[in-house]
Amino acid sequence: MSIDGYIASATTEPLPLSNAADLDRVDAVRASCDAILIGAATVRNDRPRLLIRSAARRNVRLTRGLPPSPIKVTVTEKGRLDASASFFAAGDSEKLVYCASPIVNEASERLEPVATVVDAGQPVSLHWLSEDLHSRGVHRLMVEGGQSIHTQFLTGDLADELHLAVAPFFVGDSTARRLVGDGRFPWNSHRRAALAEVRQLGDVVLMRYALSSRFRDEALEDC
Ligand SMILES: NC(=O)c1ccc[n+]([C@@H]2O[C@H](COP(=O)([O-])OP(=O)(O)OC[C@H]3O[C@@H](n4cnc5c(N)ncnc54)[C@H](OP(=O)(O)O)[C@@H]3O)[C@@H](O)[C@H]2O)c1
Repeated sequence: MSIDGYIASATTEPLPLSNAADLDRVDAVRASCDAILIGAATVRNDRPRLLIRSAARRNVRLTRGLPPSPIKVTVTEKGRLDASASFFAAGDSEKLVYCASPIVNEASERLEPVATVVDAGQPVSLHWLSEDLHSRGVHRLMVEGGQSIHTQFLTGDLADELHLAVAPFFVGDSTARRLVGDGRFPWNSHRRAALAEVRQLGDVVLMRYALSSRFRDEALEDC
């Protein structure tokens, strides 16, 4: 996020927040996970590929019997996802689309060739979704935004750790997306989150917060 807490610009233009060192850190974290989840708006707006960039990290995963890149997961209520989006087109890893019940049939027709569409009920609970992912063998999930997804995972007390990387500039436009929206968060002035690490990555600062007893303080550089 920016110094003033924004994760995107107010336009559809990309907002480069990370530097090379931070992107490499993100690659290491992705490689340590079974799956990566983003909201449908991020699939549409950012068109991310969500593949492991480092050949060495892909090889480590392969020697562990894992696919080169983690499973990709998204969630949608309206189902407006394009099967040609990079999320679906890039890489051979499994793709899961959790859909609200009313649009499951329509979404399946469009997306089943490129993804597994899961009927996630109505409304879609991210608590239920997390448990369903666990039943599919996803034990370490990386959640990469955007604002709506961050807000639901954090207010739902579903996250074990928070990686907050701050880029050295301001956005200064309240019509842009911030890290989170309004909500009742489990961490407040009476219950402070535990700061597990602060790391400088060039001009970016990473803060890691331990949010649950399941937090595992691992050396991600080894991944
Ligand atoms: N800086 C960063 O690290 C970072 C990372 C990721 C994203 N971003 C930015 O964040 C912005 C997007 O944030 P956002 O808050 O607008 O969107 P988002 O969190 O990416 O996705 C929201 C969408 O996900 C679906 N969704 C979320 N919760 C759901 C639920 N419980 N049940 C059913 N569907 C659900 C809905 O999709 P439908 O509309 O399809 O129903 C909803 O519109 C983008 O501009 C992107 O650039 C920044």
